[in-house]
Amino acid sequence: MGSKFGTGSLNIVMTLLLCLILLLSMAPKLKAELTTVEHPLNSDGSISFLVVGDWGRRGLYNQSQVALQMGRIGEKLDINFVVSTGDNIYDSGMKSIDDPAFQLSFSNIYTSPSLQKPWYLVLGNHDYRGDVEAQLSPMLRSMDSRWICMRSFIVNTEIAELFFVDTTPFVDDYFLSPKGQTYDWGGVSPRESYIQTVLTDLEMGLRESRANWKIVVGHHTIKSASIHGNTKELESLLLPILEANNVDLYVNGHDHCLQHISTSQSPIQFLTSGGGSKAWRGYYNWTTTPEDMKFFYDGQGFMSVKITRTEMGIVFYDVSGNILHKWDTSKTSYTAFDVPL
Ligand SMILES: *[C@@H]1O[C@H](CO)[C@@H](O)[C@H](O)[C@H]1NC(C)=O
Ligand SMILES: *[C@@H]1O[C@H](CO)[C@@H](O)[C@H](O)[C@H]1NC(C)=O
Repeated sequence: MGSKFGTGSLNIVMTLLLCLILLLSMAPKLKAELTTVEHPLNSDGSISFLVVGDWGRRGLYNQSQVALQMGRIGEKLDINFVVSTGDNIYDSGMKSIDDPAFQLSFSNIYTSPSLQKPWYLVLGNHDYRGDVEAQLSPMLRSMDSRWICMRSFIVNTEIAELFFVDTTPFVDDYFLSPKGQTYDWGGVSPRESYIQTVLTDLEMGLRESRANWKIVVGHHTIKSASIHGNTKELESLLLPILEANNVDLYVNGHDHCLQHISTSQSPIQFLTSGGGSKAWRGYYNWTTTPEDMKFFYDGQGFMSVKITRTEMGIVFYDVSGNILHKWDTSKTSYTAFDVPL
């Protein structure tokens, strides 16, 4: 063999290799890239929250009435936080960090004591029509400490993990036929690698999750009977990852209605909570598998979720706080991870 290395250099290479292997085996398990916010459980081991979407209209279109009922139900359930499925500020997101829409559509509207909890928010397509960085800015937190808005992130409550996914960049139409709208794609381009990173991070986060319940939140529908219908990009790119990782709920807004779809092909419950303000679109198209539609309401309202280690219940409410639909399920803990501390 005409190797340039003598046995001395070979030993050095071997030693380096061994060190590398040792280092790799000692390194902590790779963590998901997504920012994780830890949210503590109640002392009884439960957690509950409200979900509202498509709301920021300076109180108009019954936004204030929905807010009032969220406050009432939030108090009754003693909620831990609020989830927003996006389209936080209409019509075109925030113009800048000083945009008074922040107070007029958020701080001055959700004033009930029970809603003075963290709000975990994703962005919707209307938010992308404004200054996205403004809405993501931690500066907003100094004006209203509830506001926790990121592109994609995780809220971990130990028994349940919530994965917030930035779905707007997935939708081809906003890029290919924006219909006169401009979108703030700073931070998104190049689009293909942005989407790939979101999917990889989500998949890794889901795979590493030890929570008994996994909930994914995005603005856009995967399945919907209302005007926007199913989002084909999410059906092909996002849904397979959710199905492969035992996700329990996919929760979205975008369509201004409340709905619960459950198909025989997937254990995932598809839940739309997009009734935070303007509603009554007057459109319904769900013809092929009518048995999958468990509940549909075209008007305003919101949703609550209550979770314990083994049980989960969701409830939909209308603009007056009346209960429209309930769904409950239970499962045993993943005993392997159920180690008492
Ligand atoms: C607001 O809610 C009331 C019911 O309390 C309803 O009669 C009215 O049409 C709603 N307004 C809008 C703009 O949706
Ligand atoms: C209803 O949805 C189907 C696809 O799911 C579509 O082919 C059809 O055109 C829609 N009907 C209307 C009236 O929009």
